[in-house]
Amino acid sequence: MSALRSLDEDIQEVLFDEAALQRRVRELAAELERDYAGLRPLLVGMLRGSVYFLSDLSRALRIPHEIDFMAIAAYGTRHAATGAVRLLKDLDEEITDRHVVLVEDIVDTGLTAAYLTRLLRARRPASLVICTLLDKRVRRIAPNLPLAYVGFEVPDRFVVGYGLDYRQLYRNLPYIGVLRDELLSPGGPP
Ligand code: IMP
Repeated sequence: MSALRSLDEDIQEVLFDEAALQRRVRELAAELERDYAGLRPLLVGMLRGSVYFLSDLSRALRIPHEIDFMAIAAYGTRHAATGAVRLLKDLDEEITDRHVVLVEDIVDTGLTAAYLTRLLRARRPASLVICTLLDKRVRRIAPNLPLAYVGFEVPDRFVVGYGLDYRQLYRNLPYIGVLRDELLSPGGPP
């Protein structure tokens, strides 16, 4: 394998190219500006997948706001998801009485977002909503998980790029695409 092998070669189909992503991010920022004017919202990004989306969203947002990050690790594989997650890094900011926007790269089963929502709600924020770039709605398990802001709905395919990874690679692709099937380990992605 050449060190210069392009990650692009591993993508079978581009779902959202760079221009489409940037356009949608600007639209979401405009919605947030309208809904959060004067409220100084705190955007909470989930490490590591939401970093690219959150930084573009933050730059597009022309109202005063803050950012913070959390990191979690899911127990077990994605397919055996039980919703049990381990907190690796908590927020630096207090969120009591703050307007919090949880920024996700993708909501799949929704178990992670449901867990985080419960965790953050217990701290009594003034408001708490989810803003996700991608919504893989067909795989939802978590009941009653309202998504206030959604970039795009995606089919039940494993996607990478713009923060989303497969075994820690492909996050830096400026677009979102479907990974070639033969690259996924037997039994599906972890
Ligand atoms: P959930 O708890 O099932 O909603 O899982 C959410 C997490 O699973 C995301 O934050 C991603 O890390 C990962 N994930 C789910 N679907 C994909 C995908 O298609 N590509 C890359 N990561 C994914």
